[in-house]
Amino acid sequence: MQTGLKVTNLCKRFGGIVVADAIDLDVPAGRIVGLIGPNGAGKTSFFNLVSGVVAPDAGQVMLDGEDVTGLKMAERARRGLARTWQNLRLFPSLSVLDNLLIGTRDYPGERLSRLALQSGRIARDETQDRLKALDVLERIGLAGIAHTDIVNVPYGQQKLIGVARALMNDPRCLLLDEPMAGVEGQAYRTLQSVVRGLAASGVAVCVVEHNVAFIRDLCNEGVFMFAGKVLARGDVESLVADPRLTELYFGT
Ligand SMILES: Nc1ncnc2c1ncn2[C@@H]1O[C@H](COP(=O)(O)OP(=O)(O)OP(=O)(O)O)[C@@H](O)[C@H]1O
Ligand SMILES: [Mg+2]
Repeated sequence: MQTGLKVTNLCKRFGGIVVADAIDLDVPAGRIVGLIGPNGAGKTSFFNLVSGVVAPDAGQVMLDGEDVTGLKMAERARRGLARTWQNLRLFPSLSVLDNLLIGTRDYPGERLSRLALQSGRIARDETQDRLKALDVLERIGLAGIAHTDIVNVPYGQQKLIGVARALMNDPRCLLLDEPMAGVEGQAYRTLQSVVRGLAASGVAVCVVEHNVAFIRDLCNEGVFMFAGKVLARGDVESLVADPRLTELYFGT
């Protein structure tokens, strides 16, 4: 059942800081929801809770009708819950291609016992993973730098590689944490069209961005977060025009 992401009563506090205050939020399959709010609002924390980096104090995370709240991050990823990281987390001394392969679920070459027992199948799987990684790079316009080390790749393209790595998991729900910061020109347009294509194929997409123009162009609707709470949901235009919310955003 492809219903997307549904989060209910998600709660988390770190000491005195409440990062998730009874959040109810759904991202339906095929929709692109923009998550906006000032620094420290809890947007990345929300992604950490949904993707399983951080355990909630209470609440539930459902993916396509299945409760994934108790599952580890890797298991959620296997079920199609993919995310990017605000601070990239790429391996600078590895090639673009290897960065994608390292994120692949159960990358067989990493398991020595299986390597010894099933070398034929593993070689086949690895070839398939490589072909898939090259295909993902093609889709995102980076096939030409597959064998370049990350350290030699400009920052804007590194951001796209972060997205490409998430695509290796065949996402059913994709969480993008500030994918546009530092990205411009062709990479900006490529990312827009890739995300639109994913949504058109039924993926639920949630995008955190401070770039309001990007959110306005891309998202079907927006959600405004502040102090761990969802304060408003609606079309992006009306959220950014709401003086109460802009005051919270800019702190004026
Ligand atoms: N592991 C943690 N331990 C303690 N405090 C944390 C932890 N993770 C996040 N916080 C705090 O929670 C609050 C929300 O942080 P979060 O990173 O979710 O904000 P954000 O909305 O993503 O902000 P930005 O737009 O700057 O990325 C901040 O005050 C942050 O310092
Ligand atoms: Mg953040």
